[in-house]
Amino acid sequence: MADDNSPTKQTGTSAMWGGRFSSGQSDIMEAINASIDIDQRMAEQDIQGSLAHAAMLGATGIISSEDAAAIQRGLEQVREEIRAGGFPWSKALEDVHMNVEARLKEIIGEPAGRLHTARSRNDQVATDFRLWLRDACDRIDAGLAAYQHALVQQAEQHVDQVMPGFTHLQTAQPVSLAHHLLSYVELAERDRGRFRDARKRLNESPLGCAALAGTAFPIDREMTASALGFDRPMANSLDGVAARDFALEVLSAASICAVNLSRFAEEIVLWCTKRFQFATLSDAWSTGSSIMPQKRNPDAAELVRAKPGRIIGSLTGLLVVVKGLPLAYSKDLQEDKAPTFQAVDDLELALAAMAGMAADLSFNPEALEEAAGEAYSDATDLADWVVRELGRPFRDAHHIAGSIVRMAEDKGIPLAALSLQDMQSVDKAIDESVFSVLSARASMNSRTSFGGTSPTRVREQIKAWSARLAGE
Ligand code: ARG
Repeated sequence: MADDNSPTKQTGTSAMWGGRFSSGQSDIMEAINASIDIDQRMAEQDIQGSLAHAAMLGATGIISSEDAAAIQRGLEQVREEIRAGGFPWSKALEDVHMNVEARLKEIIGEPAGRLHTARSRNDQVATDFRLWLRDACDRIDAGLAAYQHALVQQAEQHVDQVMPGFTHLQTAQPVSLAHHLLSYVELAERDRGRFRDARKRLNESPLGCAALAGTAFPIDREMTASALGFDRPMANSLDGVAARDFALEVLSAASICAVNLSRFAEEIVLWCTKRFQFATLSDAWSTGSSIMPQKRNPDAAELVRAKPGRIIGSLTGLLVVVKGLPLAYSKDLQEDKAPTFQAVDDLELALAAMAGMAADLSFNPEALEEAAGEAYSDATDLADWVVRELGRPFRDAHHIAGSIVRMAEDKGIPLAALSLQDMQSVDKAIDESVFSVLSARASMNSRTSFGGTSPTRVREQIKAWSARLAGE
């Protein structure tokens, strides 16, 4: 069924809705109207929905059980043909719904025309799209779980690895590398929660809302809803065909998730530079430069960093499409799928890349440890010692430690290299035991508060995460 000699073209009007039309469409009308290039990705869901609808029409006696059975057999054949590849999608038939129905007609003849009883493409497309997004949420959840798993495995190897923790990208306090990695596991878990929430809310069936007002046929919406794995039929037929907030929610979750991924991607880019030298990516995750032979570029991390541009673009695009649309269905809503499919594809690829890179990173213990001890990252430990051992208020201790840091800075040496006399010139009460807290490792080990970076606490978190991810 090639575009040019399809039955539609020959008769000049659509066989599906052409009853009151006498002449054919402009080619440009056909081009702007057709969505088949995009929505053929919902063919599986479309057939699933039609199978459920046909079974219900048969069970309620709206069509004969023979016709229902013929339709079901025919749909299964169409599904096989589509799965086999090379299905002759026709632009003249506009969209996936009419392409499937037209092929069904070729296969089974007259009963095919009964499938669309008590249904409209408006509830059909809303049903297909919800089913497609439900699967997408599940795939994204699996992608996030794989990413978390890779992070936890890296964390297991690096609990005692000290590195600088940053605020303002200035060296702040030493932390465990595992603690740093686990923070992304927490973030990914909240992303999973957002997709779960979206999935739960979208899992209602619009099928049977028909064009907008419901139908006069005695349909059984509970039956189709449960056959399709929906929690319930949607309670308002206008809402069923008009709502696209479910796609907006998935795109919002995707946007937040992409932004979250971009933060670790950015750190990978930084860590792999000569300036940081915290980590390297293997050849599998690096590219070279066509002019500079020495270059190893973290292109995948850069591309993940860029993905929010596209994914937020999809969210913004669909928000603008839906904004101000009066109820119920308008063709504007056909523009929902391209940005959504694009965003889901981008996010799935970004997740796979992040899981791959998280597993691939190899860390440079010397560079991490050296950087952890730089830039007076133990200054807070000095102030805390003054509070704890000398009983001073924190504000005063902060001042004392600040003066000692300035002195060390003037001499160009770390705090631990100052003499006790130097320290005592700032505060006479300081004694030798102060030196025990002045190292990056001592600093990391000391932060034993719940959620803190001490290896003891981090090991507990790793254990909890391993058990949780293994139990899924
Ligand atoms: N291809 C259309 C879409 O994606 C299907 C619904 C068409 N409905 C209609 N009344 N023309 O939105």
